[in-house]
Amino acid sequence: MAEAGIADARREAMLLVSACLRVDRAYLLAHPEAAITRTQQRRLDCWLRRRAAREPLPYITRRVWFYGLELAVGRGALIPRPETELLVELFLEWASAQSHPHTPRLVDAGTGSGAIALACLSRAPQWMGVGIDRSRRALHWAQLNQRKLGLDTRLLLIQADWLNTLRPRSVDAVLSNPPYVLPDEWDALQPEITRYEPRSALLVPANDPLSPYRQIAQGARLALRSPGLLALETSPRLAAAVAEVLRECGFSSPRVRRDYGGAERIVWATQ
Ligand SMILES: C[S@@+](CC[C@H](N)C(=O)[O-])C[C@H]1O[C@@H](n2cnc3c(N)ncnc32)[C@H](O)[C@@H]1O
Repeated sequence: MAEAGIADARREAMLLVSACLRVDRAYLLAHPEAAITRTQQRRLDCWLRRRAAREPLPYITRRVWFYGLELAVGRGALIPRPETELLVELFLEWASAQSHPHTPRLVDAGTGSGAIALACLSRAPQWMGVGIDRSRRALHWAQLNQRKLGLDTRLLLIQADWLNTLRPRSVDAVLSNPPYVLPDEWDALQPEITRYEPRSALLVPANDPLSPYRQIAQGARLALRSPGLLALETSPRLAAAVAEVLRECGFSSPRVRRDYGGAERIVWATQ
């Protein structure tokens, strides 16, 4: 795998072996003599070939960790990224300071594997959620995850275009990690991303890069009850422009939160 250009080939090979044998890495280190069956060997060879072809490890093992939850993930759904956990943190901070006379409801617009909605619901037990995606393949993974985590009675999944199907004043928080890769950034991305992850989950529309943000903010302005939260993940290159979009859509004081690397990552506002 090192010849294929994989930086941490040894660690990744170890992860593949432990996933294949269904044991943790500590067990493998303690039992280097552990036997492998012929079926496991065949599966492992296949997985190593796929990884050497630069398929992302989570698509091979069909598992990824996000905010302490083990999620199922595969082709068709974006692999949740660590920086998106900041959106969950911001929501939980804000939600803990609210008291609602009704059951509060959050929306995860462009839910993909369901990561954001499921992480929020798992830590905010009084909330209900709606996960929206236009991709049926992505929703398949979100559905698997809501069942696996026992959250299927608290998360409604809908195939739709952003917030178009929501009723006015029907939700209390809108969270989203929309596509934000600019066309001029595409070629510099790792092959794991460009060859395998859904382009429609990543790339902004070339003619109007801010249109996902505008559509979500316009929809949120109508769908949110007061006091409501709108929080959007973005890239440092787009953060200032996204804040401006929020202002144009009627959110008076948008704020920006930096990630742990110091990059402007979340634009958020309340109404
Ligand atoms: C960057 S991915 C985020 C996935 C997931 N929320 C996460 O953070 O891992 C963007 C998601 O938005 C969805 N999406 C793109 N355009 C959409 C639209 N017009 N309406 C609804 N969902 C859309 C994509 O299918 C994709 O799942």
